[in-house]
Amino acid sequence: MRRRGHDPSRDGDAATVPTLPEHLERIQGYLRGCGLLAFPGSESPLRRQLADFMELRCDETVRIWATTIALALDIDADSIDDLSSNMLDAQQRWIAHIRNPEEIETYAVLREHARGGFISKHPPSRFLASQLKIRQIVGDLLNRELRGNPDLPELLALLDQEFWERVLHITDFFVEGREREIADQTESYRRSVDSAPAAMLMVRAEDGIVYSANQVAEREIASSLKGRPVWELHPESERGVIRELLAETRRRGLATRGNLHLERPGRSLLPVDVRAALIEFGTNHTLQVMYVDLSERRQLEFKLIQSEKMAAIGQLAAGIAHEIRNPLAIITNALYDLGALIQDPSPDVREDLQIANAEMSRAQEIISNLLEFSRDSKTEIQAVDLNALIERTLKLMNKYLQNNGVRAYTLLGPVEACDVNENGMRQVLLNLITNAVQAMPKGGELRIETSAIPRERARLSIADTGVGIPPQRLGRIFDPFFTTKAPGEGTGLGLSVVHSVVKNAGGTIEVRSTPERGTTFVIELPIHQPGFMLDADEPAAKGNPAGENP
Ligand SMILES: Nc1ncnc2c1ncn2[C@@H]1O[C@H](COP(=O)(O)OP(=O)(O)OP(=O)(O)O)[C@@H](O)[C@H]1O
Ligand SMILES: [Mg+2]
Repeated sequence: MRRRGHDPSRDGDAATVPTLPEHLERIQGYLRGCGLLAFPGSESPLRRQLADFMELRCDETVRIWATTIALALDIDADSIDDLSSNMLDAQQRWIAHIRNPEEIETYAVLREHARGGFISKHPPSRFLASQLKIRQIVGDLLNRELRGNPDLPELLALLDQEFWERVLHITDFFVEGREREIADQTESYRRSVDSAPAAMLMVRAEDGIVYSANQVAEREIASSLKGRPVWELHPESERGVIRELLAETRRRGLATRGNLHLERPGRSLLPVDVRAALIEFGTNHTLQVMYVDLSERRQLEFKLIQSEKMAAIGQLAAGIAHEIRNPLAIITNALYDLGALIQDPSPDVREDLQIANAEMSRAQEIISNLLEFSRDSKTEIQAVDLNALIERTLKLMNKYLQNNGVRAYTLLGPVEACDVNENGMRQVLLNLITNAVQAMPKGGELRIETSAIPRERARLSIADTGVGIPPQRLGRIFDPFFTTKAPGEGTGLGLSVVHSVVKNAGGTIEVRSTPERGTTFVIELPIHQPGFMLDADEPAAKGNPAGENP
């Protein structure tokens, strides 16, 4: 069927389907062209006469029709009543149209039923047979009751014309209904492929060229995939594996390969598993290639390794710190005694003592950081007013910020008290602010913001306009003793302590950074729950897996 006409007010998929008036007009055109339209499409005495006749005999017509049709179409007795009443309604609508051709409800209903309604449930011939029968019954009644009436030939001719028109419409409605069904199925298939939670490519079996890609593939890999050999989407070193995968799929119908990568213009490699299947229908041979994104799994694995590593180092650190703390205290005391014992020390001795003392304090600071880092989750959790703590810390660090040319801005939202260790949280702020200042050797801006977020959490973000962190280093900054600072300037424990405090509180920490632009640390902490502190000794009380971040 050729389709034409376009009513922009209709929904997209209907745009190619003709409207009902267009339909009617077209069929009128065929009838006119074939010389089958003897009676004009407007009210007339003849039309009125035929309509009155049919209306008067409508019940009888349907009764005779039902008996024949029940047998012919093998309709069970239970359904015949319903069918008769439907036919009665249909007859009324047809009669209304015969009486006044402007009245087109009969076609509106037929068209609707051809789209998934009762007409579409059976072969078209079955429906047409029942229509032919109606025409025959009405013709018989006319012949019998109006025998000798001079209007009879004209009435029969009008009946035929109306009947032909009806048959032509029904034929088109059938095809249109079926086409629409197919179009709906195709669209539903296309949408399900597009919204599948995996990148999918359709690849020509003979040469491995991509000819179709779903939306996920276009979004996650590249927008122009069509026409490219599928192996070209992988790094050089993996292309052989992909060719093998395609060959195996052609041979065995199915193949999978794990731990591969997709190259994405301007973005990092995407770790993936690949599954391919051979689809054969008719003379078509297609390979469907599906990619399962492994990045989230990799991230989780990374987090798991990270937190296991942290726990192991934490235990080790705690052990060492405890062992060293006492000797350190003894040495410090000894140094103090020495200072007091030596009368009039020479400048050299005095300087040595000073250096020894300074280094002792540094060693002690490292030890207390190590202990803070390795504190287990049983550390006392308190209700901490985050905003007040930030303000106090900033006041304390004011001079330090000023000396380094750093302007601090705060945007403290209405956050309730958080469940976290207060001393630990102070360390968190001190470490993050110190890092930020150290990242801005030429001065810059420090922004501290707090806000309440859903699920009873508070968010704290600390942003600087410093040197930033290169992406390849981001995964290591929370490692104990990882530092990029000159020896003696940093021990690399600051962020490990931050991580450990936040994790113990059941919170999360994330970092975003753009080299040369700055870094933002975002911490989320649980809002204080009355009674929580009583449970603080129960590790389960803080079993928040999100706390494994990063
Ligand atoms: N705001 C930041 N901007 C840029 N780099 C940062 C920032 N914060 C941390 N880093 C990087 O992460 C590394 C580790 O930080 P961390 O605080 O753990 O140790 P540190 O500052 O080097 O030493 P410490 O804090 O023990 O004195 C730093 O050496 C630095 O390279
Ligand atoms: Mg630091």
